[in-house]
Amino acid sequence: MTDLSVVFTGLHFENPFLLSSAPPTESETNILRAFDAGWGGVVAKTIGLHPVVNVYGARTKFMRTVVETSSVSMKKQPGAALHSSWNWELISDKGLDWWIPRITRIKQAHPTKMLIVSIMAGSGNDKELRAWQTLAQGCQDAGADGLELNFSCPHMDRKDMGSNIGRDEGLCSVVTEAVKEVARVPVWCKLTPSTTDIALEAGACFRGGADAIVSSNTFPSLPPIDPETLEFEINVDGLVSSGGLGGPAILPQSLAKMAQLTRAFPDRSFSGIGGISSFREALNYFLLGCGTVQVCTAAMLDQAVGPNVIRNLNRGLTEFLERNAERGFTRVEDFRGIRRDRIVAQSQIRRPADTEYHGGEEPMEGYAEPVPAASA
Ligand SMILES: Cc1cc2nc3c(=O)[nH]c(=O)nc-3n(C[C@H](O)[C@H](O)[C@H](O)COP(=O)(O)O)c2cc1C
Repeated sequence: MTDLSVVFTGLHFENPFLLSSAPPTESETNILRAFDAGWGGVVAKTIGLHPVVNVYGARTKFMRTVVETSSVSMKKQPGAALHSSWNWELISDKGLDWWIPRITRIKQAHPTKMLIVSIMAGSGNDKELRAWQTLAQGCQDAGADGLELNFSCPHMDRKDMGSNIGRDEGLCSVVTEAVKEVARVPVWCKLTPSTTDIALEAGACFRGGADAIVSSNTFPSLPPIDPETLEFEINVDGLVSSGGLGGPAILPQSLAKMAQLTRAFPDRSFSGIGGISSFREALNYFLLGCGTVQVCTAAMLDQAVGPNVIRNLNRGLTEFLERNAERGFTRVEDFRGIRRDRIVAQSQIRRPADTEYHGGEEPMEGYAEPVPAASA
């Protein structure tokens, strides 16, 4: 029997594939179905203490593209392939009191499956930091195996919440530390990809005590405008706000973010998300150094919780291990991170013979490098 299991932040997962915090994990029924289908873990839809009211109408749409024109649209087009998901859904509109008995029941039904709960509060004052602690204690007392701090939701008006925390090193550190003060279970921080050097915010989370970093949440984006009506393809009364892009389109961008993270912190734990629908995409994240991966868009399109997606992921990993047995791969840990160091500066890539490139700098001629003024 092939061993698909991993130990990640001290937790034992029967396989490294999780449903991410999103519609597939928004209810007890969905999470129970997900565990029955074979997911090694789930991250429950983000819970907060603040009021949540979603927009009128659809919260998620899928964009597709056709071969003939390469145009991207939410409109149904025959023969179109999935490009991305676009959403402006807020966190769970069910409160902590609603979730607590459900967390307990889910764990009782599936004691060996890993249930991580995503939580969110503000960061502007002590009351908000206490809200993080209330959420953390409520979820862990109910039986959650771990906590994921949402520093990444892209739809926040509040300056002290969601991705606005994930863009601020100070807030990342302070909130993580506040949660760690009360947490008895591992604490993961899910960072926004909408920042220049995500390794800075990750470093701040680690200084606050984070056990792992999760990336990516959806990328800030707008839906396309219909050339006939001149209206955004999804709008309410003609109005739209920035939403989040997920699915196949974000795979390369998410990989770039993950590479920044794993190269900066090769000894830390990372969970990769973004554009995974089969083992082929998941493998990228493992090779960059992730210990687990998470899936949203592909699962939403497969009976809401992805029974075929998880079957294919498990089969893909099994076949990969069998195919690569002679390389000594017996489990994920054997190939985790083995392509992390292939990402280098442009100037380190080989040029045609007899040419040199110094990253756009003029080559230094003849003499040793100048001594910096301060130490001269
Ligand atoms: C409709 C929708 C709702 C989401 N809600 C949350 C959420 O409440 N908390 C969270 O951390 N991420 C949320 N996400 C982000 C996903 O968990 C995931 O990070 C993102 O979709 C990228 O993964 P994918 O490419 O597999 O879709 C949501 C995504 C979608 C599409």
